[in-house]
Amino acid sequence: MRRFSIAVLPGDGIGPEVTAEALKVLRATAELFGHQVEAREYAVGAAGVAESGDALPPRTRDAVTEADAVLLGAVGDPALAAAEGNCRPEAGLLALRKLLGVYANLRPVAVHPALAHASPLRPERLEGVDLLIVRELTGGLYYGEPRSLGRDSAVNTLRYTVPEIERVARVAFRAAAERRGAVTSVDKANVLEVSQLWRETVARIGAEEFPEVALEHLYVDFAAMRLVADPARIDVLLTENLFGDILSDEAAVLCGSLGLLPSASIGDGSGLFEPVHGSAPDIAGRGVANPIGAIASAALLLRYGLRLPEAAAVVDRAVAAVLAAGVRSADIARAGEPTATTREIGDEVARRVLGGQPAEPALRGR
Ligand code: IPM
Ligand code: MN
Repeated sequence: MRRFSIAVLPGDGIGPEVTAEALKVLRATAELFGHQVEAREYAVGAAGVAESGDALPPRTRDAVTEADAVLLGAVGDPALAAAEGNCRPEAGLLALRKLLGVYANLRPVAVHPALAHASPLRPERLEGVDLLIVRELTGGLYYGEPRSLGRDSAVNTLRYTVPEIERVARVAFRAAAERRGAVTSVDKANVLEVSQLWRETVARIGAEEFPEVALEHLYVDFAAMRLVADPARIDVLLTENLFGDILSDEAAVLCGSLGLLPSASIGDGSGLFEPVHGSAPDIAGRGVANPIGAIASAALLLRYGLRLPEAAAVVDRAVAAVLAAGVRSADIARAGEPTATTREIGDEVARRVLGGQPAEPALRGR
């Protein structure tokens, strides 16, 4: 029997609700495949500040480095938005990414046929959309020094080294080689020196190591337009930290809701798996959050974190079946369509993972 240890960091807002469902699905998968999953919960974000005055408490630090993989909900609390240093929830997430060394953030965006209505884009624009954003995650403006906030001026630093660009580029090229064989690298090389280095380095890695993968370079402003004007043309979109943050929220519009999007952050050690959405304090605790982003992140945890592609495929199929059956959280329901709670959706996915019964008619939309 294979045993895995998973550090679960529910975090803030809707984080605990959606992680509970993701964990439920992970346990169902473990049952199906006869794996033993040991999952323990640790605080991060505002929950960490409450526990120990630190958005990434020492206990959590120790646990994540020991675990085979880390499953995270969301961080963020409006009450702490102006907090400083380690008391800002977001600082805990950034410290966690740095600690784990997860330099590549994978954000797959595919459009589920049953949900085309949920996107504001015309359905014909969405046909064939299946893209992967590879976002550099531990460098750039998020981490650059010096940084400071003064009364009359503030400073952030954009710096990338060649090895930082090379390693994330390799992740993107490798992914493209297993997909449709095309990388779109996004930068602002018409203005920024860092982008010129980015472009040069990505081009060299592509030519030397992945000659079979097609490479194009786009400026970030044009890429933002391409993402909504002709998204089906993009296979793998490779970009730096801040551009990737912005473009991935934009890409969420394609699939209909930010609540559907998962992410995998990988590096040299254990991976970090979290939905793309935030803590959504406005709907927290009401059981209406969409758990699919978190559940799909659990599937990525199985695929990239534990290297169990078959188990991951079972979860992906269960999610697709639940959506096809018309089970809808509020963010993706049509007007007047019945909605399912966070827990009901998790139950439906877990049941299908175990090969159970189809959705209850009461949970099924029209
Ligand atoms: C994300 C989030 C984070 C980021 C925030 C919460 C720090 O927006 O994962 O996309 O900007 O990376
Ligand atoms: Mn973001």
